[in-house]
Amino acid sequence: MAAPGNSEAIEAWNTVLFDKFVRFRDLVELNLGKHGEVAMASHPPPTGGRVLDVGCGFGGTTLDLARLVGDGGEAVGVDAAARFIADASSAAARAGVKNARFMTADVESDDLGGPYDHAFARFGTMFFASPVRALRNLRRALRPGARLVKTVWRRRDDNPCFHLAELIVKGLVPQENKDNAPTCGPGPFSMADADTLTSILLAAGFDDVTLTRLELPLRIGRDVDQAIEFALALGPAGEVMRLAGAEAERLRPQVMAALREALTPLASEAGVFAGSSTWVVSARAA
Ligand SMILES: C[S@@+](CC[C@H](N)C(=O)[O-])C[C@H]1O[C@@H](n2cnc3c(N)ncnc32)[C@H](O)[C@@H]1O
Repeated sequence: MAAPGNSEAIEAWNTVLFDKFVRFRDLVELNLGKHGEVAMASHPPPTGGRVLDVGCGFGGTTLDLARLVGDGGEAVGVDAAARFIADASSAAARAGVKNARFMTADVESDDLGGPYDHAFARFGTMFFASPVRALRNLRRALRPGARLVKTVWRRRDDNPCFHLAELIVKGLVPQENKDNAPTCGPGPFSMADADTLTSILLAAGFDDVTLTRLELPLRIGRDVDQAIEFALALGPAGEVMRLAGAEAERLRPQVMAALREALTPLASEAGVFAGSSTWVVSARAA
């Protein structure tokens, strides 16, 4: 059963955020994928091991982990949103990957079915109401000495891929959640601070924590029109628009004009590119 503090975020992930991830699936997978690939290549799972993919979303990384551990191993994708798990399970069946399976569970409160030899999370651990409780539950599912490898966004200022649009939208649209619409909880930047993140991991029973800063340009749209559409739907700017409801719709033409002015200089024949910055985290279950 979901932790009470997570129900709202899980509802958001299973409804409005799932729909938006489906709509922008190519951009989401490309951009999250660039950071995830570096994390997985620099800290691969052990051959033949059992691996947990935390907050696995569409499960693409779970299939990659399954291939890396090989036939003697297994990759298990866990996500609190049942619609992501249904999508991931169908994708694994279509791809014929036999050593991957998926389960719907709240990482903070549910039995994760260990023991696992390794855990991986591509942007899947920033949304828990109680991150120490969630990571402690995850650590309990790991064998002593197993590694947790994960990517999290660094601070907003170093992520113009989101922050540029966020500043523009916040400058024009009042920030109010008039409908009490569900939000994704602590949010994508909740583990941006290196000291806070390290303390959370130590308190949850991990040691040997290393954070590696990774900066990559992300393609935020094939052209300026798509970059505007993407910014207004997903990420912090999209959330301000969604939660402001009718007021945001009224202001949409002004917001779009301001975004066009800001994003046009970032466009080239190859698409619209903006900088991004993450921590690649490795920690050992003590
Ligand atoms: C930003 S998405 C990342 C998805 C995927 N790892 C990827 O890189 O494409 C965050 C994921 O974490 C999941 N999530 C949020 N809270 C969770 C919780 N308490 N337990 C398990 N999964 C959760 C969401 O449903 C969502 O799929």
